[in-house]
Amino acid sequence: MLTRDGSGRAVFGAISIAEALARSGVETPAYVYDLAGMADEARRLRAGFDGAAHLVAYAVKANTAGPVVRALAAAGCGAEVGSRAELEVALGCGIDPERILFSGVGKTVAEIDAAIAAGTRGIAALHVDAVEEVARLAARARALGRRARVCLRINPDIAADTHAHIATGHEEAKFGVALSELAAAYAEIDRHDELELVGLSGHIGSQLVRTDEYLAGAAKLFDAAREREAASGRRLALLDPGGGFGIDYGTGCAAAPADFARGAVHLAREHGFGDRMLVVEPGRALVGAHGVLCASVIAPKRSAGRRFLVVDAGMNDLLRPALYGARHRVEPLDRAVDAASPAWTVVGPVCESSDDFGAHVLCEPLPDRVIVRDAGAYGYTMASHYNGRGLPAEVFVHADGSVTASVAADARSWIQSRLAT
Ligand code: LLP
Repeated sequence: MLTRDGSGRAVFGAISIAEALARSGVETPAYVYDLAGMADEARRLRAGFDGAAHLVAYAVKANTAGPVVRALAAAGCGAEVGSRAELEVALGCGIDPERILFSGVGKTVAEIDAAIAAGTRGIAALHVDAVEEVARLAARARALGRRARVCLRINPDIAADTHAHIATGHEEAKFGVALSELAAAYAEIDRHDELELVGLSGHIGSQLVRTDEYLAGAAKLFDAAREREAASGRRLALLDPGGGFGIDYGTGCAAAPADFARGAVHLAREHGFGDRMLVVEPGRALVGAHGVLCASVIAPKRSAGRRFLVVDAGMNDLLRPALYGARHRVEPLDRAVDAASPAWTVVGPVCESSDDFGAHVLCEPLPDRVIVRDAGAYGYTMASHYNGRGLPAEVFVHADGSVTASVAADARSWIQSRLAT
């Protein structure tokens, strides 16, 4: 949880973010993460299940860093992965394959094989995303001599009130199987002995700030599960309405992660599914608020009556503002915001007008360094080398106050890779 100490310094747990940067020795731009804050978030969410059997499958795509995944695993999370690399990170962090789910609209043969071959009987389930995918999954299970467990991902046709790029549960979206095609999908799965249908899954979209749409999707999923069980006489062990729980980027978020869990448990019980494994797949809600992107101020720039503050982090480091028009609060690193000071448009060095973090009130005199808040989810994982820039460093504040860091792909290694080809 980000707080400010008596001198106005931004603090994670017991240490200031400036101290974490100093101890790690990395330069800006750098992400700094509060691992204890993330683990607490997972524990609070898990408490919302009210004793019901559940699996919080952390959506690794939100933040793939080993210390983050390990901290969440230690707090009782499994993983939802969307690629072979994410699967390997989850397994490498010690997550039991029995607690891993694999989603994706385009799983390659190598990805399917890795999921089916993991552990003694493969991962908990691959989410079938299309009728056409069933035969491909069955063929790989046959080739590997294993029976693969699958969930059918339903598309409940719910238009979530979120950015169009991250709404996934309406019928025009590429994800999941339409309700009208479920019967065909069941028939196709049942035709293949190599596959075992263990549950239904869904995911209507991301950054949901209310529970109603999520629960409407969950209700359709539970209805579908009831029909399937009645028609097949077979029990579905996993019911997974997905992730998407929103966070407060500064304009509010009415629903806490545990509210989604509580609502889903209530609905599951109403449908007679109180004894099933209820799965949720949150990414952002576990990690988003517990990471900041730190940047150094390069220079102020005044132009045509406008005030720009040019910093050394850009859209390559944090793409969300450029891609979704997302607003992340920018604040001084070492001083509290001074509400009486003028607003500056904080921009990065990248050669695009969208490389713009928006107008923010900071302080006077201007700070040397700033933090971009709520950057723990979909920050580093969407970073790129655009403009030949290195990937940002990452600094981890551990629960015991220790600090570790990783500098995965700096500008020098990028230059070498360009010259070597
Ligand atoms: N499950 C599935 C199948 C997903 O596709 C996703 C996210 C999640 C779970 C986790 O969603 P979350 O709880 O984090 O909302 N880059 C965008 C978000 C894209 C989300 C993609 N899928 C952003 O920065 O807002």
